[in-house]
Amino acid sequence: MVSRDSHVSESDRLFLLAATELAERGRYTTSPNPCVGCLIMREGHVIGRGWHQWAGQGHAEANAIKDAGGDVRGATVYVSLEPCSFEGRTPSCAQTLIDQGVARVVVAMIDPHPKNSGRGIEVLREAGIRVEVLELPEALALNPGLAARRRRAKPWVRVKVGASLDGRTAMASGESQWITGRDAREDVQHWRARSCAVVTGVGTILADNPRLSVRGGRFAARRRIRQPLRVVLDSRLRTPADAALFDEPGDVLLVHTGEAAEHPRAETISCGEGRVDLHALLEVLLQRDCGELMVEAGSTLTGAFLESGLWDELILFVAPRLLGGSARAMADIDFERLGETIGGTIADVQAIGEDLRIIITASNERNDT
Ligand SMILES: NC(=O)c1ccc[n+]([C@@H]2O[C@H](COP(=O)([O-])OP(=O)(O)OC[C@H]3O[C@@H](n4cnc5c(N)ncnc54)[C@H](OP(=O)(O)O)[C@@H]3O)[C@@H](O)[C@H]2O)c1
Repeated sequence: MVSRDSHVSESDRLFLLAATELAERGRYTTSPNPCVGCLIMREGHVIGRGWHQWAGQGHAEANAIKDAGGDVRGATVYVSLEPCSFEGRTPSCAQTLIDQGVARVVVAMIDPHPKNSGRGIEVLREAGIRVEVLELPEALALNPGLAARRRRAKPWVRVKVGASLDGRTAMASGESQWITGRDAREDVQHWRARSCAVVTGVGTILADNPRLSVRGGRFAARRRIRQPLRVVLDSRLRTPADAALFDEPGDVLLVHTGEAAEHPRAETISCGEGRVDLHALLEVLLQRDCGELMVEAGSTLTGAFLESGLWDELILFVAPRLLGGSARAMADIDFERLGETIGGTIADVQAIGEDLRIIITASNERNDT
């Protein structure tokens, strides 16, 4: 058990907030690792700033030490996430801080990763470094995937839907490009870019042949764009070998429900019987260190995710347009009583170009009024 110290001041909180803001700079490129920022102070002056940018490359602490010119003896380190205590592709940050002779470490969030989870703080304390934990909601919000892992041992599931005013997402013919405007589609790129994985159903692949990739320089770091894993739920492996998503950079995973099978263009895994088992799928993705995933699918798979209670956030783009009663619903779910229906809480409403973006967080409780 990690004790949360109270020897922290208002200035500690502000420096920790600044470290948390630095973490944002890795927003589109750190996956599958979390965004982490670090600020190093000595005698009231900032001597180093760092953030994690790419998985496999320098962690925030190491980058901040480098920024400080390698001399951080006696300094205070503010870091948005507990330093890691294990060697991975990079050395353990806790050990690096010990070796560098820092005096004090202030942490904004305990790492829920089972390999670390309090151990990083313990190691530092055992080495005689003062460690204080000041849990910041801003640090928790940075990496919702980490929080979901801690609370429910699953990734953070964000369902994205582009709908009309009457809640329709495609014409009866399947035509749906485009219901929302260019700005909304540009905004979707941002949500995609921060995701570890984008999940769709084979229905969308067959109807729209989407690329599901991240495009645009604003998501690049060192001229490289990190592509989320693109996951297609395709029980009978109907995804055509010439589907557009195979021509984009990044990996594609086809999830089916049959015997071991191969596909000429992608890795395949079997998960469930009949239809893909969504609970099991999330476990597989969690094992692959997937923290945040975005579902961009038609009404069948969107409905399945909403109905399963596995979703955390719904990003709904609403276009000022009516598609009419024969158009396809947002989610194929049938309820008989109001008490069975699915509800959430509006977390944010914003105009995005000519459309409206509503962010709804799951209450994870059925409406029982
Ligand atoms: N407006 C929007 O935001 C938006 C976004 C995407 C698509 N669309 C539109 O949606 C339409 C396609 O909708 P759709 O419902 O046919 O496609 P979908 O929801 O993308 O894919 C559905 C398919 O996924 C497969 N699947 C595998 N496991 C599943 C599970 N556990 N639960 C549910 N489905 C599972 C099923 O096929 P198998 O049984 O063969 O595996 C199922 O038929 C198109 O017209 C497209 O343009 C709209």
